[in-house]
Amino acid sequence: MPSADPMPEPFQAKARDVCAPAESRLFKPLKVGNMLLQNRVPMAPLTRMRSDEEHTPLDFMAKYYGDRASVPGTLIISEATAISHNEEGQPNIPGLVSDPQAEAWRKIIEAVHAKGSFFFQQIWGVGRAAQADYVAKRGFPYRSSSNVPMDDGEAAVNPRAMTEEEIQGTIQAFVDTAKRAVAAGADGVEIHSAHGYLLDQFLSDKINTRTDKWGGSIENRARLPLEVIRQVAAAIGAERTAMRFSPFAGFQGSEKGDAQELYTYLIEELKKMNLKFAYLSLVEATGDPGALIFGGKQHNLGKTLDFILEAWDNTSPVMVAGGYKPQSAVWAVEEHYKKWDVMVAFGRLFLANPDFVYRLQHGIEFNKYNRSTFYLVMQEEGYNDYPFSEVFLQERGKASP
Ligand code: PHB
Repeated sequence: MPSADPMPEPFQAKARDVCAPAESRLFKPLKVGNMLLQNRVPMAPLTRMRSDEEHTPLDFMAKYYGDRASVPGTLIISEATAISHNEEGQPNIPGLVSDPQAEAWRKIIEAVHAKGSFFFQQIWGVGRAAQADYVAKRGFPYRSSSNVPMDDGEAAVNPRAMTEEEIQGTIQAFVDTAKRAVAAGADGVEIHSAHGYLLDQFLSDKINTRTDKWGGSIENRARLPLEVIRQVAAAIGAERTAMRFSPFAGFQGSEKGDAQELYTYLIEELKKMNLKFAYLSLVEATGDPGALIFGGKQHNLGKTLDFILEAWDNTSPVMVAGGYKPQSAVWAVEEHYKKWDVMVAFGRLFLANPDFVYRLQHGIEFNKYNRSTFYLVMQEEGYNDYPFSEVFLQERGKASP
């Protein structure tokens, strides 16, 4: 995994010293769904590969999530979690399907709540982004919206286009998983419809070549993500339901030729539902994981999310993410997005700093993240060994982490 540094920063060039993070809106309370957050810097969903061979979270994950929740009133979003065993398409990513998986998540959620913070479960299907041989070995079909392979090389494996029955089953799996998340104590779920994973494989005109009601026109390509959010909201409540989109990313072949029209349509349809969703999560052009994490090509740099925020018009808060630093996050909430209720999610700085929110607020230097340990399978190394700051520990009256 090559390094993608220097880190792109959406507003760094324009960021002025508006004010220090501590005085900014980043630390003003915000109502999100049923939650009253005490800051606007949630932890972004981050794949970490610390689940076992059964896709069950390991016990030490409770410490990781609980530590990062240590400033009360922080919103923690889980790593992407599979909605069915079929969608557990890569080793060691978690699922929320079996009872042991639900029990493991319950302990994690309790650890977050014990700190006075909040927890949303990000839920997904991976579709063709699965490892084809891994899925086959487990006796499941390797499938997507269409039979378009992810790579164009000779080794490319063609997924099978999903049947109508499988599409209906996927909607149901999202609903059932959302219910299991809430039963395990989660404050809500974030539906992953970004980055070339299953729902995005329906949105993208480059991937979805279907000719039935699930493909072709914008209306048809948008149908599955919209149906999923409609049914999840009906099952657990709109105020517990959020959606994530990455309009500009090219990760895993997910670029769209008609992003402006597609996302305008999606927003219009979401607004027509007349529901108060918890939040809308949007990835900036600079947040493409292909470039940010895996050192690949940048797509659509310079494009902004502004048209989506305008169309959404504060229907509920919006979360943005993608290479933000403290000053650019301040600039985002104080200047660029000042008309809206915006949160700025952080990923890599959060994984490397259990007391990230405290450090941000108090101007304490951050631990540096170590990219080579991001995905150390089932290891506590690079996971539970990033220290709290001394100041934080002293304030909390603890001798050691
Ligand atoms: C990843 O596992 O690399 C990953 C997962 C979810 C995302 C982006 C990247 O949204």
